[in-house]
Amino acid sequence: MYSSRARQPRPREGWRGSSAPPTLRAMTIDRPVSFVTGASSGLGMGLALRFAAEGHAVALAARRVDRLDELVERIRAAGGTALACPCDVRDRDQVHAAVARAEAELGPVDLLIASAGVGKTTAAQNLDAADLEWILGVNVLGSAYAVEAVLPGMLARRRGHLVGIGSLAGYGGLPKTAAYSASKGALKNYFESLRLDLRGTGVAVTVITPGYVKTELTAKNAHPMPQLMELGDAVDVMTRAIQRRAPHCAFPRPLSTLTWLGQVFPRRLYDAVASGVRREKKE
Ligand SMILES: NC(=O)c1ccc[n+]([C@@H]2O[C@H](COP(=O)([O-])OP(=O)(O)OC[C@H]3O[C@@H](n4cnc5c(N)ncnc54)[C@H](OP(=O)(O)O)[C@@H]3O)[C@@H](O)[C@H]2O)c1
Repeated sequence: MYSSRARQPRPREGWRGSSAPPTLRAMTIDRPVSFVTGASSGLGMGLALRFAAEGHAVALAARRVDRLDELVERIRAAGGTALACPCDVRDRDQVHAAVARAEAELGPVDLLIASAGVGKTTAAQNLDAADLEWILGVNVLGSAYAVEAVLPGMLARRRGHLVGIGSLAGYGGLPKTAAYSASKGALKNYFESLRLDLRGTGVAVTVITPGYVKTELTAKNAHPMPQLMELGDAVDVMTRAIQRRAPHCAFPRPLSTLTWLGQVFPRRLYDAVASGVRREKKE
């Protein structure tokens, strides 16, 4: 659906013949419009670049404005269309304003990729609920605010696609990751529930649960990261899943298979296996 070859540019209704000055919206004609949170780095940036190359007009959301501006320049230099929509996804009003700006400039959002996410080590011996508030605020509420902003329009148009980025860490508790695991479990279930509600409405929902990918998020990890993937390889897998409008995409195998099996392991076996996952590297 999102191949630029599949959708040839043609004017969006309502702009041709308008006396309004040419805006990005007029110039983007009928390109699909994507709103990507977490676009200033890592997976969000990789997906924004990929969908821009596929012919999407991309709205780029994150807090670091300089990074967003650089990315806009890069996409425009390659002949694409992009707009920086800076916001802190923990702030509901900012997210709604960013989506409104994107829709005013580029047109209605066809594809939401909610990639903004944070994580940190949170050991039970050193708990601080503020970490949980922060991580849930970005990973879960930030995604929910973006969905809330784009979904009514998608339902009215009977067309759209919501993509939530979970994690293999969201299928069960992992050591020293209580807040992050909880956030990714919540994110996965939130989007899965939406998918059920939205059946037959024309709005698709994809939940993507990656393993370890080389980004700023994982660069600070001191523990071993089995099957650590290059960013480009992960973006390839995710792009294919989004283009197929797949309901779910977990990768890489075999880590994703082991994670899936872990859900039905007897809990003592799960505890033994999962406890080994976050053993810190010895200096
Ligand atoms: N890398 C992995 O191995 C991996 C595995 C599984 C799942 N994931 C998930 O994939 C998503 C992307 O992660 P990544 O690895 O690409 O990490 P990353 O490179 O650190 O990117 C995180 C992005 O989130 C944005 N962000 C953080 N807090 C924000 C806030 N309050 N408001 C708006 N934007 C905010 C950051 O932008 P600013 O700082 O500019 O705001 C940045 O663009 C996350 O949801 C992560 O949990 C990653």
